Amino acid sequence: MVPGAVGKVALMRLLPGTRALITGASRGIGAALARELARRGAVVGVAARSTGELDALVASLPGDGHLALECDVASRASVGAALERFVAPAGGRDRLVAHAGIPHYEPFLDAPVEAAERMTQVNWLGTVYTVHAGLEPMVAAGAGHVVVVSSGAALRAFPSAAVYGATKAAQRAFAEALRHELHGTGVSLTTVYPGEIATSLHDHEKDRMPAWYRGGPGAASADVLAAKILAAVEADDRALFFPPWVRLLGILNGATPRAADLVLRRLRGSAAAPRRD
Ligand SMILES: NC(=O)c1ccc[n+]([C@@H]2O[C@H](COP(=O)([O-])OP(=O)(O)OC[C@H]3O[C@@H](n4cnc5c(N)ncnc54)[C@H](OP(=O)(O)O)[C@@H]3O)[C@@H](O)[C@H]2O)c1
Repeated sequence: MVPGAVGKVALMRLLPGTRALITGASRGIGAALARELARRGAVVGVAARSTGELDALVASLPGDGHLALECDVASRASVGAALERFVAPAGGRDRLVAHAGIPHYEPFLDAPVEAAERMTQVNWLGTVYTVHAGLEPMVAAGAGHVVVVSSGAALRAFPSAAVYGATKAAQRAFAEALRHELHGTGVSLTTVYPGEIATSLHDHEKDRMPAWYRGGPGAASADVLAAKILAAVEADDRALFFPPWVRLLGILNGATPRAADLVLRRLRGSAAAPRRD
């Protein structure tokens, strides 16, 4: 990323040779982002646990210097090692950090508490570990951009996703504050709020998914989201909502949760918002 100036807004232009590290990049949104970055000439480090998928992805990317980085974001040491492995050979200062995540859909009392612990470790602490390890060198260099992939569930949490929503809301609050803290450093941050994106995120829990969750062919494209994320980074947008209705849901829920419930019941059926009081 190279900072440029348009009016008072510092823009982060994506130029060939930009270095970008993405956690949770073995498939889904992260892999789509890696493909889009590489297509535009960036050198990417793709981090996740599935080394076979990472190797295959790297082999398919255009350009040179891409790295497959075995990494469990729930482990601070693993995240630190992955970042070091990427930064040393890639050199330079311009890193983009994105995020891995896992869901578990089940009513809170039915779900094993270990699922809550794992989501907290991966979605929330994984975000903290990744940004903590990646941010300081960017601030020292005075340039860079962080992307935090949260969820529409951070704006309006759903039944069967109480803990997932909580981890995504934690990311939201973290990113919101951090963007302000970074003011004047040359480093900035964009938070992404995806709605339903066509990935394999929920494949392990299709039988538990609530009736209102559309997923499948109704979901939006990860490739389109990836292109929009890069546009949001280049524009230094505070947030990206995709599909755009996610933003409306957040606004409505912030203003009047009962009206948000009503709309959700209309659009997705009563399982999306069972209580009427
Ligand atoms: N798809 C949606 O509808 C949707 C909606 C809202 C928000 N999101 C958010 O978008 C992000 C990515 O989701 P996706 O749809 O792309 O899902 P996905 O296709 O299932 O990909 C998830 C990625 O996270 C990685 N991952 C999971 N646990 C990890 C760990 N402990 N350490 C390192 N990497 C790990 C997975 O790789 P390995 O298994 O190989 O480690 C995989 O690369 C998540 O944060 C999710 O909450 C998605």
